[in-house]
Amino acid sequence: MFNQARTVMVIGAQWGDEGKGKIIDYLTSEADYVVRFQGGNNAGHTLVVDGAVYKLHLIPSGVLYPDKRVVLGNGMVIDPEVLISEMNNFESKGMKLNMLISERAHVIFPFHIIMDGMIDEYKGGLAAGTTRRGIGPAYADKAERSGIRIIDLMNPKIFKEKYDKLFDLKRNALTRLYQQHITLNKQDIYKAYLNFGKRLKPYVGDVSLEVNEAIKSGKKVLFEGAQGTMLDNDHGAYPHTTSSNTIAGAACTGVGVGPKSIDEIIGVVKAYLSRVGSGPVPTEANQRLGTYLRERGQEYGTTTGRPRRCGWVDLVQLRYACRVNGLTALAITKIDVLGGLKTIPVATKYKYKNTILHELPADLEISRHCKPVYQELPGWNNLTDKDFQDIIQKGYKALPKKMKDYLAFIADATQTPIRLVSVGAERKATITVD
Ligand code: GDP
Ligand code: IMO
Ligand code: MG
Repeated sequence: MFNQARTVMVIGAQWGDEGKGKIIDYLTSEADYVVRFQGGNNAGHTLVVDGAVYKLHLIPSGVLYPDKRVVLGNGMVIDPEVLISEMNNFESKGMKLNMLISERAHVIFPFHIIMDGMIDEYKGGLAAGTTRRGIGPAYADKAERSGIRIIDLMNPKIFKEKYDKLFDLKRNALTRLYQQHITLNKQDIYKAYLNFGKRLKPYVGDVSLEVNEAIKSGKKVLFEGAQGTMLDNDHGAYPHTTSSNTIAGAACTGVGVGPKSIDEIIGVVKAYLSRVGSGPVPTEANQRLGTYLRERGQEYGTTTGRPRRCGWVDLVQLRYACRVNGLTALAITKIDVLGGLKTIPVATKYKYKNTILHELPADLEISRHCKPVYQELPGWNNLTDKDFQDIIQKGYKALPKKMKDYLAFIADATQTPIRLVSVGAERKATITVD
């Protein structure tokens, strides 16, 4: 996939959970670095290698290769307790972590987690249905310039100066403004976070410096997106989004590399669609077909275990994703899930009242009430395990003709080539398209 490229980025082209972790894990064999640039432990990336299942929330999906360096960029918000438990888990399996954490990444505290749930609940119909991991409140503090960064945990004096202000501010907001009874102990949290800082210190450094030097010296860098385009805080389905920019451009600010250092941008697209959380999803399937997709695709959130809402590929949304990310290629995942359907609906445009829409609306009123206009594409029979073995061995040419037609339809409608097709959760169930 790298060919001439120095850097490749993999991002979610839909609503998250497209299978980015699997694609990153597959591509890591060609890379030297795997670098995350936004989000936190709202992400849940599942990797399956020779039957063993790994679920990651913060550590980048390249971690299964011992000789690769994994990096957490400054654009992330990090819950140190969660990160340390992920690290302990890997180390207890005898794996050595070759990891760098940005000193400039922001830290999630317990009060962020409390606020996250409270604010989301208060919002009613405007809620995103967050993962309750404190992501939004931590990014809000960063934007407001009250945030505490990873480097601060390593400097007790600066940490105390910032923490005193932040904790008091949050306690007052929670008790006076939100009228909550909170039991958080200021001193206990301070001490626990100083200890977290000690544990993380050997891994903390200047991410921008190291990644830029790596690129300059000819190393191959894979940038790992979390969430998906429709969850982008500017370009997604606001306000039902996450609180970071999830699109390709976010890697520049979230790592500290120039826009010209990104060579290939691969958008991961589920062969249908899933969404975990609240807000309008125009191509959400009816109950019967939604359940069919959910059960066949095992669509339950990696982070929260919530059932994912399932539906159909939305070309209005995908064309938009190609544009706002500047996608140079697509990776289609979970096409194995679609077998056994007589026809497969794909939305080509929307209808709102008497108007046909070819572009994604920004107006919440229109997003709520527009209807997809579907084209029905021919489906294919259920494939057997033996069929899949054959496909994995022989590659793209062994795909059923109707599956190839389905893929060609998406590539044509988005004017973006498909370079990878994933036909199973296992690392090896991935085929390249030349
Ligand atoms: P991510 O957040 O984009 O990394 O995606 P998740 O890991 O949250 O969700 C994708 C789920 O689909 C995981 O359980 C993967 O193991 C699984 N998966 C990935 N690719 C495929 C595929 O091609 N076929 C099937 N059946 N499962 C897949
Ligand atoms: P990965 O990386 C799917 C959704 C939540 C909610 C909204 C805001 O696994 O694809 P947040 O906790 O970020 O404030 O929640 O975003 N969401 C995701 N949905 N995959 C994810 O990550 C997600 N991360 C957040 O469900 O609607
Ligand atoms: Mg996920």
